[in-house]
Amino acid sequence: MKKFIKILGLLVVVHGMSGCENDATDVHASAAETKVSAVLWGEANNQPVYLYTLTNNAGMQVKVSNWGAYVQSILVADKLGKIEDVLVGYNSWQEYYNDCCYSGPVVGRFGNRIAGAQFEIDGQVYQVTKNDGGPNKDINQLHGGKLGLHKRLWQSKIISNGVELSYLSVDGEEGYPGNLNIKVRYTLNQQNEFAVAYAATTDKTTPVNLTLHTYFNLSGDRKRSIEGHELMIAANKITPVDDLLIPTGALQDVANTPFDFTQAKLVAKDIRVSDPQLLKGGGMDTEFGGFDHNWVFSDYDGSLKNQVSLYDPQSGRLLEILTQEPAIQFYSGNFMDGSVSGKNAKPILHREGLALEPQHFPDSPNQPQFPSTLLKPGDTYQTQSVYRFSVK
Ligand code: BGC
Repeated sequence: MKKFIKILGLLVVVHGMSGCENDATDVHASAAETKVSAVLWGEANNQPVYLYTLTNNAGMQVKVSNWGAYVQSILVADKLGKIEDVLVGYNSWQEYYNDCCYSGPVVGRFGNRIAGAQFEIDGQVYQVTKNDGGPNKDINQLHGGKLGLHKRLWQSKIISNGVELSYLSVDGEEGYPGNLNIKVRYTLNQQNEFAVAYAATTDKTTPVNLTLHTYFNLSGDRKRSIEGHELMIAANKITPVDDLLIPTGALQDVANTPFDFTQAKLVAKDIRVSDPQLLKGGGMDTEFGGFDHNWVFSDYDGSLKNQVSLYDPQSGRLLEILTQEPAIQFYSGNFMDGSVSGKNAKPILHREGLALEPQHFPDSPNQPQFPSTLLKPGDTYQTQSVYRFSVK
């Protein structure tokens, strides 16, 4: 086991190092392996915050941090071979520390909303922290609560082709029952597939719904709005929502509505159609709203399936999302309004990014007809999503 060396504030990884643990993985990977390196990026609670870079032989790079398990950037070639960043986010750790908008972290313990920030398990009512809904954001819970998993420092270590992050969310944290041991593995292979594998165990029954909250813009370095991207979602239904974006409990057919993405179409195509569900998406486009809904995959069976594709015709970049999850939240960046500055101090303009979050359905803990999100002691929560990049 070798230690890291600090040179001019940069942390150079010498050998199988980690955030807080060490293992024997050599970062000087063999030719078939993705290279993994790390720099010291900041400091939280007197602990080092690292930015890891995963680089494959094709030159694709993914940068991730042990702060909030953020994915900071994905650099990938366009059809002319130009490598650019396809994630909306920031440059410095300080900006991630202050991030308002879930710009690339793992969200949980429960991704998306829980009505009334409350649920019942075996006759016991649990009140989790409120951070969403109404003018004071004090009605529901969104993305696991105020600090969730995204404002925490995770343990980290380099593994083959990537990084493993772990976090112990203690019993009662954000109001949730049970000590939840979470592991997230980020790996990049030679086929430009960035895989996110989640695992968790608990000592009390608790809901778990982890997802990655990255905002994509395949134009590269945010050159254009995402309205010019073509999106396909293999889903015949959505879970329609009320005014606070809580599922009503029904399933709604997408056929003949703006929500039909079963055939790839431009995000812009139906985003300004008058539709009561679209209006719930809110945001800057006050007349029409936007997409902020959960699509239910038609052929879900728990295996890893190619369910979503996003394509930018100008750059030729194609992203396919393979997932074991039953659904995906598609949020079209409705609230982005230029008031927040992102990478290279460029204001993040309306619809400069879109989030695609493979997940279980929002508010599942209160909707028994939805697939269960309860994890019991002795069981292991395990799920994977793969982000596959190519050009066409
Ligand atoms: C939610 C949106 C929210 C966004 C950023 C999405 O997952 O569905 O309603 O505005 O995250 O917080």
